[in-house]
This record gives sequence, C-alpha cells and structure tokens, in this order.
Amino acid sequence: MGEMAQKIAKNDTIELLNILNMAFAEEWLAYYQYWLGAQLAVGPMRPSVADEFIEHANEELKHAQMLCNRIIQLGGTPVLNPDEWSHAASCKYDEPKDPYVMKLLEQNLTAERCAVARYQKICEMTFGKDYETFRISEKILKEELEHEQEIGDFIDDIQHTLQHKG
Ligand SMILES: [Fe+2]
Ligand SMILES: [Fe+2]
Repeated sequence: MGEMAQKIAKNDTIELLNILNMAFAEEWLAYYQYWLGAQLAVGPMRPSVADEFIEHANEELKHAQMLCNRIIQLGGTPVLNPDEWSHAASCKYDEPKDPYVMKLLEQNLTAERCAVARYQKICEMTFGKDYETFRISEKILKEELEHEQEIGDFIDDIQHTLQHKG
C-alpha cells in the first residue's frame, strides 16, 4: 500500500476501490471470454478472428494487472477468489455456447461497450482529483475503444463477405 497515494487521491476511496475491483473482475472475465472464444471459433475468417481474440485477451490481462497494482497502492484488496468475479463484475460474462464467429464477435462487442462505459465512468470520477487512477483508466479506455472498433470492423467485413457471396 502507498501512503502518499491514498493521501493525495481526493476521492471517496471506498467507492473508488469498489469500482476498480469491479473493473478488475470484468477484465478477468473479458480475458477468459476472448481466450475461450479463440479456441472455439468456427466460421468465416476464423484464423484472423482467433488471432485478434488472443491479442485482445492479452491486453485485458494487462488491464487487470494495471488495476491490481493501483488497488493495492490505494490500500485495497483485489478480488481474491475467482468465484467472486461474476458477483463483483457488472459487465456480465456471456458463455460462448454458439462457437460461430459472428455470435462470438457480437458477444465481445457487447462486452467492449460495457468496458468503455466503465472506464469512461472511472475517468469522470477521477478527473482533476486522482491523476494516477485517471491516467490508468484513460489508457485502458483508449484500448477498449480500439477493441470495440476492431470487433465492429470484423463484423462489418464478415457481413460484407457473406452478402457478396454466390
Ligand atoms: Fe480491458
Ligand atoms: Fe477490451
């Protein structure tokens, strides 16, 4: 824990730690959703989609790492038990019951939109008050927006390909 980190963070620390832990749990679920999707995917552009999923999975894991560091620095405890992930998370894990790439992409698009809203909220909470948490959430927000765009582009490309076939 960082004594100065807590002193200078002009926020309700309990409220902030709650939302940081929510985001932390969501990152683990997002990591797993992408990672599993990459293994299961079937359908058009599967190799490219699977590569993109793995790339995103690794970025979600880095986000979890950044959040974990900050939670500890602020004197909090990261969610200790994976059983708690789905309770702590507000962006829900969507089981990839149907491995068709378009279904997986749609599920991930929903998850990315939820993540964008989460970091937008954390940015708003910390702007001008807690510079370090703001810096971290702004960096993650940028990457979630890129993820959302990349997933959306895959959906458009696959739709376009399917429409112009035969
Ligand atoms: Fe993320
Ligand atoms: Fe993401």
